[in-house]
Amino acid sequence: MEVLRGITLEIPSGTTAAITGPSGSGKTTLLGIMAGLEPPTSGRVLLGETDVTALTEEERAGFRARNVGFVFQTFQLLPALTAAENVQLPLELLPRRERPSRHEIRDRAEALLDRVGVAHRLQHLPSQLSGGEQQRVAVARAFVARPRILFADEPTGNLDAESGARVVDGLEELNRAEGTTLVTVTHDLTLAARSDRVFRFGAGALLPEDASS
Ligand SMILES: Nc1ncnc2c1ncn2[C@@H]1O[C@H](COP(=O)(O)OP(=O)(O)O)[C@@H](O)[C@H]1O
Ligand SMILES: [Mg+2]
Repeated sequence: MEVLRGITLEIPSGTTAAITGPSGSGKTTLLGIMAGLEPPTSGRVLLGETDVTALTEEERAGFRARNVGFVFQTFQLLPALTAAENVQLPLELLPRRERPSRHEIRDRAEALLDRVGVAHRLQHLPSQLSGGEQQRVAVARAFVARPRILFADEPTGNLDAESGARVVDGLEELNRAEGTTLVTVTHDLTLAARSDRVFRFGAGALLPEDASS
């Protein structure tokens, strides 16, 4: 089955973009391809100077670990690890010569968890956190390795309005502080409107930009 076709888009470094569109239109598939999580059948994805579609699966994993952050709709924290450990993990997994010291890793994770308002939950397991808290931990984790680009797939899709707003605050605050390029899939038009650019998506293709409203 063909899910996406004929998509060309460019997101300037350091800017924010939102992607909106109906359920099943291919937004998650597109994000996974742009993030180098899965390869497209045809076409190219350039992240900075790197053609991620030309990399092997193993090279893509290494590239993602250094350059790409991802926030999933369903949080995807590791259930056996505490909030602090979940945030530290991407740095722990870096090759030894790129890995900060244990002390730096701990400080970096705690600083990020503090910025998203869950500093009081460092030693809690995901099951002991609310959905909104889990997603704020996931946001901290996505930023921990200082990615150049961060993808968020309906980060507030499983949350009530108030918890969702706190997740968005955390995401925007860290994004501003770190100067990351941010691509967010969202149904929340208020959130989309705060992005530098909005791409509207329907049935596997981008809709013309002048077709808005
Ligand atoms: N792993 C998969 N295998 C087969 N079809 C899939 C898979 N994932 C998604 N799809 C299909 O691809 C289309 C786009 O899905 P998706 O990218 O998840 O859309 P969205 O995120 O916009 O809701 C849908 O028709 C969906 O059923
Ligand atoms: Mg989706």
